[in-house]
Amino acid sequence: MNKLSYLLLFIPLTPCCLYADGNPVIGEKKAEICIECHAIDGDTKDQLVPKLNGQYENFLYIQTMQYVTGARFDTVMGKVINKVKPSAEDISDISAYYSRLPMMSGDGVLTDNGRLGRDVFFIHQCNFCHNDHDDSVKIYISKTARVGGQNKGYLYKSLKDIQEGIRKADNYNLMNRILKQLTDNEIDAVAEFLSTL
Ligand code: HEC
Ligand code: HEC
Repeated sequence: MNKLSYLLLFIPLTPCCLYADGNPVIGEKKAEICIECHAIDGDTKDQLVPKLNGQYENFLYIQTMQYVTGARFDTVMGKVINKVKPSAEDISDISAYYSRLPMMSGDGVLTDNGRLGRDVFFIHQCNFCHNDHDDSVKIYISKTARVGGQNKGYLYKSLKDIQEGIRKADNYNLMNRILKQLTDNEIDAVAEFLSTL
């Protein structure tokens, strides 16, 4: 067994019990403050804004709370949080709403760059944490964060932010360690690959 698989045996991959179950119907109304950028169907095409449709509810809740506490910082989201000041309950409801919308997906077209990205994804074992074993069509999407079908520009920015330590939220520091081995071209390629799924 290689080192990564050994380490992963000891990691609880799904952060448990951090959110109260939200109400998606109330969440749809509350999401009015989010749709300017994330769109009402969550499926924004703005390359620097993440799609939220079908993202894991727990992940949406945790990430939004991280913007509230400052554990994750972004100028745009920071301004929104300061202005709107959503409560934990608002965030639960909005997360429940977006997570239940039809899942984000890409156009399925793999270029040479995308094929390189697919190799990077498997050689560096990203699939250990970003993999749905029970989904035969979209097997590469994540238990931690769904990354299949996400906007390429946002994926690239997130990977660079995590690589450079600007985004410190990666729970186990394992992803940062893997990303440190990748060149910019490889990060671009893996972002392209994921965006097509
Ligand atoms: C003015 C535009 C704007 C508005 C309004 C906005 N967002 Fe965002 N949101 C962004 C941008 C840009 C990012 C990417 C930030 C980054 O790179 O960290 C983001 C990131 C996120 C993420 C991280 C997703 C991921 O895949 O990691 C979540 C969750 C989120 N927003 C939830 C919300 C919620 C909930 C609201 C409404 C209360 C909201 N946003 C309103 C622009 C916006
Ligand atoms: C040890 C488990 C693990 C491995 C291996 C891993 N990731 Fe992650 N990844 C995570 C976790 C956990 C998060 C959520 C981080 C956070 O809390 O901000 C994440 C977040 C991400 C995000 C940001 C998603 C978003 O919507 O904000 C991207 C993109 C990503 N991973 C891609 C990759 C790629 C590409 C690789 C391989 C080079 C990889 N991951 C390897 C666990 C992992």
